[in-house]
Amino acid sequence: MGTVSAFEFVGFVFVSGILMVLCMAQTNVHYYDFVLKETNFTRLCSTKSMLTVNESFPGPIIRAHKGDTVYVNVHNEGDYGVTIHWHGVKQPRNPWSDGPEYITQCPIEPRSNFTYEVILSKEEGTLWWHAHSDWTRASIHGAIVVYPAIGTTFPFLKPDEEEIIVLGSWYKGDVNKMVAESLETETTYRWLVDYGKTYLLRIVNAVMNVELFFAIAQHNLTVVGIDGAYVYGFCTVILKDISVGV
Ligand SMILES: *[C@@H]1O[C@H](CO)[C@@H](O)[C@H](O)[C@H]1NC(C)=O
Ligand SMILES: *[C@@H]1O[C@H](CO)[C@@H](O)[C@H](O)[C@H]1NC(C)=O
Ligand SMILES: *[C@@H]1O[C@H](CO)[C@@H](O)[C@H](O)[C@H]1NC(C)=O
Ligand SMILES: *[C@@H]1O[C@H](CO)[C@@H](O)[C@H](O)[C@H]1NC(C)=O
Repeated sequence: MGTVSAFEFVGFVFVSGILMVLCMAQTNVHYYDFVLKETNFTRLCSTKSMLTVNESFPGPIIRAHKGDTVYVNVHNEGDYGVTIHWHGVKQPRNPWSDGPEYITQCPIEPRSNFTYEVILSKEEGTLWWHAHSDWTRASIHGAIVVYPAIGTTFPFLKPDEEEIIVLGSWYKGDVNKMVAESLETETTYRWLVDYGKTYLLRIVNAVMNVELFFAIAQHNLTVVGIDGAYVYGFCTVILKDISVGV
């Protein structure tokens, strides 16, 4: 009996080996070269120089099938260090190609290059890639199109045509300089308070499209209301994540 089981086991390994080879044969490897460089662009009647990939804005489209692997060799011909993140690609056990600056890698310095190994696994559909250093993603981004695995199809009727629409922002100035300047500008609000007293802050987030973090150094805040209603069970926090409109 033991021998039969062993044969069955070997047979199983053999069959799954063939299946694996069949599966692997269906996935492909793609190579892209991204050249980061300053490029002049004109939008809304104003021209500015900004960092782009291959002088295109939005950048080049990556096309692959589910399960494929994409190597992207990023050559930095710009003036500052940048990394690129493959937004929505889960990359299990492959963090060194994920891209967040100073978290999984140092920036790709000017006049150097770095090759990302983007391993598609369960993803299928439309994702995007973008720079992951300060606000550089404003001009360094593009779509990733993941088609169904070869031999499979969409889980809906095949469309007659398709089009990629990338919604982006256009800043008239250099967005990185704008952010740096806004951090330097003296905009600190000062309010003289009495020691030991309790104050109610009514906070409104009127900025565009971003969440803000609000804190007071060496103090805890107690949240007593959100969106025009008091909250049940007051919650004391150090940092407060304020969504647009709150
Ligand atoms: C980007 O430009 C480089 C150099 O011209 C070229 O070799 C590469 O194929 C281009 N990449 C894409 C994705 O168009
Ligand atoms: C962009 O345009 C400015 C003004 O015309 C020019 O000085 C600069 O060299 C251009 N930059 C690039 C990267 O072409
Ligand atoms: C840099 O690019 C060269 C030429 O394309 C390539 O052979 C090399 O592997 C790349 N280096 C890295 C670190 O990606
Ligand atoms: C804030 O709350 C934490 C946790 O409850 C506490 O350890 C800390 O002393 C508090 N800080 C102040 C400034 O009250």
